[in-house]
Amino acid sequence: MEVKEGISMPDVRLVNVTKKFGKIVAVDNVSLHIKDKEYFSILGPSGCGKTTLLRLIAGLIEPDEGEIYIGDRRVNNVPPEDRDVGFVFQTFALFPHMNAWENVTYGPRVKGFGMQKAERIGHEVLEMVRLHERLDAFPSELSGGMMQRVAVARALAAGAKLLLLDEPLGHLDAKVRNELRYEVRRMTKDLELTAIHVTHDQSEAMAISDRIAVMKKGKVLQVGTPQELYMNPQSIFVANFIGGSNFLEGFIAETKGRMSVIELRGGLKVQAVNKGMGKGERVVLAVRPETFTIKRGKDADENALFGVVERFAFEGTNVRYEVRLENQDLVVVVAPSMACEWFNIGERVTLSFQPENAHLFAYPELGLREELAVE
Ligand SMILES: Nc1ncnc2c1ncn2[C@@H]1O[C@H](COP(=O)(O)OP(=O)(O)OP(=O)(O)O)[C@@H](O)[C@H]1O
Ligand SMILES: [Mg+2]
Repeated sequence: MEVKEGISMPDVRLVNVTKKFGKIVAVDNVSLHIKDKEYFSILGPSGCGKTTLLRLIAGLIEPDEGEIYIGDRRVNNVPPEDRDVGFVFQTFALFPHMNAWENVTYGPRVKGFGMQKAERIGHEVLEMVRLHERLDAFPSELSGGMMQRVAVARALAAGAKLLLLDEPLGHLDAKVRNELRYEVRRMTKDLELTAIHVTHDQSEAMAISDRIAVMKKGKVLQVGTPQELYMNPQSIFVANFIGGSNFLEGFIAETKGRMSVIELRGGLKVQAVNKGMGKGERVVLAVRPETFTIKRGKDADENALFGVVERFAFEGTNVRYEVRLENQDLVVVVAPSMACEWFNIGERVTLSFQPENAHLFAYPELGLREELAVE
């Protein structure tokens, strides 16, 4: 199709990019390499600098420090209209007085493409977002999901090879959101575009991204595929933000080869794979809710913790238990509804886990609560 003729697709590189607003360091020395044709997400809590990062790439603001490259071109000081990027915002940003067709063909028309070419592109992109039959509808006559599809179509029609999406599905209800996220990915893959997608929704990022950068307070903490971030989080924050986890405090009581015995609060002992911590060192053990196996009664399993079910919630696919351990710590356990026994409030249970499936971290300097804080 027209929009991908000729020019090679862009990768995007940020080298030590910093952007401040007064005293706020919105983007703090960020380096990233987003590959050609990659679907890349920037994930993090509200206020961590995601939109600022996207606006820097788009050229809507300039960095205080650092370099930004799109393809081989250093784009610092290149105005947005010369960067060949398409931008889709969280809030619907269609021209309200133009129908879907006029919105979509606006880009090609102002670019001075001939009428015939502008129309061909318009038909192609509206078909791609499956809204061809609604081309004469005005934004006010379309649902939120349809408006966002028109917004994506408009960005595509303008010939962008790099698509920047800032929470494009944020205002949509859960069902539409779930469907549209796969659609947006499919379209960018069909057109072989590079997409950078900002979201604070970890399940959205996990479902559609080739790779994800997790941000906190202006910094990129970790970049990886969804699987890498889930299986091998390199910080307590990432372990919590991606997938969620229980965090048990303790210290290294003993080290045997690659394994350590961790003494948790109240003298409870479990094993974990050591990450180079020495005996006596304070640690945090992260165990995901789905990592635990839950059994009735008090069983002398390897690597087991005992407790009493304090609360449960049936979530459909899973049952979620809150279990009060012997040391009074509360842990969350998630078990598949179809494949496990059910337990009642007040029942004594044994929770066990494979040491390889838990993650050990040094106790954070500023404390666990501060480390987990999202603001
Ligand atoms: N134009 C601006 N002037 C002053 N401060 C700004 C400006 N834009 C962003 N900030 C600040 O920079 C920080 C990062 O903001 P940004 O909009 O990038 O966050 P975000 O990750 O997109 O958050 P959200 O998920 O809520 O959209 C915030 O503290 C914000 O208040
Ligand atoms: Mg934002």
